[in-house]
Amino acid sequence: MKLFDSFFLKHLELRNRLVMPPMCTYQAQACDGKVTPFHQAHYLAPAIGGVGLVIVEATAVAPEGRISDYDLGLWCDGQISGLRSLVEGVHATGAKIAIQLGHAGRKCEATNGVSSILGPSPLAYDDSYRIPEEMDEKTINRVIDEFKQAARRAEEAGFDAIEIHAAHGYLINQFISPATNKRSDQYKEPSLFLSQVLQAVHATWPVEKPLWVRVSATDYSPDGYDVTYCSKVLAAIKPMIDAVHVSSGGVVPIVPPVYPGYQIAFARTIGEAVDLPVIAVGMLSSPDLAEYALQSGFADLVAVGRGLLRNPNWLLEIACQHQKDFLLQQPMYLQRGFPLH
Ligand code: FNR
Repeated sequence: MKLFDSFFLKHLELRNRLVMPPMCTYQAQACDGKVTPFHQAHYLAPAIGGVGLVIVEATAVAPEGRISDYDLGLWCDGQISGLRSLVEGVHATGAKIAIQLGHAGRKCEATNGVSSILGPSPLAYDDSYRIPEEMDEKTINRVIDEFKQAARRAEEAGFDAIEIHAAHGYLINQFISPATNKRSDQYKEPSLFLSQVLQAVHATWPVEKPLWVRVSATDYSPDGYDVTYCSKVLAAIKPMIDAVHVSSGGVVPIVPPVYPGYQIAFARTIGEAVDLPVIAVGMLSSPDLAEYALQSGFADLVAVGRGLLRNPNWLLEIACQHQKDFLLQQPMYLQRGFPLH
């Protein structure tokens, strides 16, 4: 199966095409953004289960960039060591590990140490959310620097790659979408904030390590944007990224119809438009569908989220049926010859 083929993201060799996408666990118990024993267990399980790349959940670059009080954070040096041990654990399994850096913007629901929230324009997500403060240039520059400092800390923690969260209606996506960006200054340009974030991250992130973005291909909003618009935004930043992770929605409270593989057509459209490696995601936990997405050229890598939450050994189970040689490469077998099938 192609699912078991290795893949290079820039110089980073992944042992197969399966990605665990970023998924918030809300387990930073002390509102301090720090790794807990829960995170260790949570990320090691799929790594032992054979995943090629684990992407750590949305990790906030500032306290007011958290989605909840219990998000992971990388806004201070004290948060590095916990993440370093996570990286070391995942590396010991042969998997690679990236971190998703994000800022919630107007979708911040955290209250601990948060006096006001930020956005490109003073529009609340819905009635249950606070109205964000419209970011002036000084605040924009501060947040860009927060992404840069978080990237420096990610490097110190030993991460193999960074995914910048530009999807699901969080801050960067709020600048991209015309449904949320009502500015009249230069930041009206949908790719400007994202490109400045990427530029700042590149100033500190090692050139040999991959860096990519996760986007919402469309926001499903009548006054928002579609996949063609998204492809144009990506074309503008293409020289600064090594791949694209294609999701959708989250900018406005509209829930689209979902079904197995509902986002793979977006992945193909974007992959063809920007000619970069693409990660597809969204109800791909049927092995046949995941394989189809890869074989038919819809995507280079497939991410399985909830499927891996239900069963961190998702890939090992498939290997039992289709790829026994993968089982023979697992550490327990190599050490003591235990057959896993
Ligand atoms: C998510 N998702 C998500 N996406 C993201 O970019 N950053 C995040 O931190 C999270 N957090 C999160 C938490 C939980 C509990 C779920 C279920 C999902 C979205 C996720 O990465 C993925 O795109 C979706 O779950 C769709 O893929 P599956 O689950 O259908 O394979």
